[in-house]
Amino acid sequence: METTAKEISTNDSTDARVAKFDEQQRKALYVATARKMATGLADIYSAMLTTQNYHWNVEGAWFKQLHELFEEQYRAMFESVDVVAERLRAIGFYAPGTFSEFQKISSVPEMQGTQDGETMILNLIRIHQSVAETFKSVAEIASHAGDIGTEDLAVARVREHQKFEWMLKSTLGGQSRMDTRPN
Ligand SMILES: [Fe+2]
Repeated sequence: METTAKEISTNDSTDARVAKFDEQQRKALYVATARKMATGLADIYSAMLTTQNYHWNVEGAWFKQLHELFEEQYRAMFESVDVVAERLRAIGFYAPGTFSEFQKISSVPEMQGTQDGETMILNLIRIHQSVAETFKSVAEIASHAGDIGTEDLAVARVREHQKFEWMLKSTLGGQSRMDTRPN
């Protein structure tokens, strides 16, 4: 949404023109925040579906461990899609709620077929990194818009997907960057 010369009349005082410009910029940032959050909603939904797919179809020596970890994570995502959708409503926007809309706006690729447990974990790690990136953008745009409620919600999503990423990486082992424990 761009401010046009027509919308800000040259007959207005400088202060009034600055105030109108600020107001229009703020509205544009609100819309941008909501659009990005709709993408985030679609991203979590897609991540949830892939995780549930893997919960159903995982096979092999890690079956029980992965079957349970995937269940824990898709259940947590089921809660968080609701939180994100309701925040969209609270700031005045409709939430997307169909597979076709989600597919159109999601930044997470849909995983086809079934894979071995390790590939499932690697796919999910990439997916959670991507969801966290989307919500980092939501937090940044919301911060510029002065919408701390949405910013806080987005930061919590970043933390949650980074936690999922850590749990999945730890399943593979050898992923910690440094040891902060005393010798
Ligand atoms: Fe189940």
